Amino acid sequence: MLKNKNVLLTGATSGIGIETAKLLITEGAKIIGIGSSKTSCANAYKKLEDLKGNITFIECDLSDQDAIHNVTGLINEQFTELDCLINNAGAIYLKFHQDKIGIEKTFSVNYLGHYLLTRLLLPNLMNAPKSIIVNVTSVAYKSGSLNLDELRSPNITAKDAYTRSKLAQVLFTQTLAKKLKGSTVSVNCLHPGLIGTNLLSKNGLIGSILTAAHKIVGRSAKHGAEQVMYNVRLMGQNDTNGQYYSNSKNEKLLPHAVDNQTAEGLWEISSKLCDLPIELV
Ligand SMILES: NC(=O)c1ccc[n+]([C@@H]2O[C@H](COP(=O)([O-])OP(=O)(O)OC[C@H]3O[C@@H](n4cnc5c(N)ncnc54)[C@H](OP(=O)(O)O)[C@@H]3O)[C@@H](O)[C@H]2O)c1
Repeated sequence: MLKNKNVLLTGATSGIGIETAKLLITEGAKIIGIGSSKTSCANAYKKLEDLKGNITFIECDLSDQDAIHNVTGLINEQFTELDCLINNAGAIYLKFHQDKIGIEKTFSVNYLGHYLLTRLLLPNLMNAPKSIIVNVTSVAYKSGSLNLDELRSPNITAKDAYTRSKLAQVLFTQTLAKKLKGSTVSVNCLHPGLIGTNLLSKNGLIGSILTAAHKIVGRSAKHGAEQVMYNVRLMGQNDTNGQYYSNSKNEKLLPHAVDNQTAEGLWEISSKLCDLPIELV
């Protein structure tokens, strides 16, 4: 099913992403993997080299909108048709950081960067006969809350910043699904499970300690990748659009994650922050 399909995978250098890349290679997909740095991309490429797959890596810091514009320019040269976009990259920053436009960085990497990437790649996705967007969110959305006036505020804990970003991905999935209704592109999101990865690693020594603990309690990254692949295989199934999956099962979202007003407000502010029109085309 995925043979020769063009797949763009963010966060392909580590954890769930690199394991997803392995599964995609096994199925014969053509993959562009994104990582945040040249070094992480080169290291990941080395780890996958023996599989002899069709994969190239591009460096792109998803908290940097200029970098995202540059990368989509490069992708347009290679993949005018895109069958699948997997928005998997993510991070948790324990200390408050901001991106170049002042937005809190966990929100910027996990949600806003993917919002921009997705909007810029929609023409490529629409060029494919059937295509799918897979947003890797988290069960953490359940405790998320979203005050759209406070995206730059330092008055937020690391946990709240993460849950907020994951709630934003869920809301984004539903708004985009509505806008894409009747098109050849569908979009869903998923929780991959509690997986032992490097998600907390960008936080110095404390990050290394927490990462070690996370790897003890978490399941394998391969398990997370299998959850992602379940969603990729929903491509072309018309009845799944705007859904949330956990453990490869469709799950009903909590009321605060299906709130239309918040979802539309988020879409509107995201377009403004990314300097894009509110309407898709
Ligand atoms: N692990 C879990 O228990 C769990 C649970 C629920 C949801 N998730 C979600 O699963 C997804 C994958 O995370 P993971 O657990 O596999 O963690 P991971 O091992 O740390 O992988 C995260 C990936 O995101 C990339 N990334 C981080 N910051 C970036 C940036 N600024 N620009 C571009 N790429 C960036 C990393 O690239 P570099 O290495 O190149 O920086 C890496 O490839 C995330 O969205 C996470 O929220 C994870």
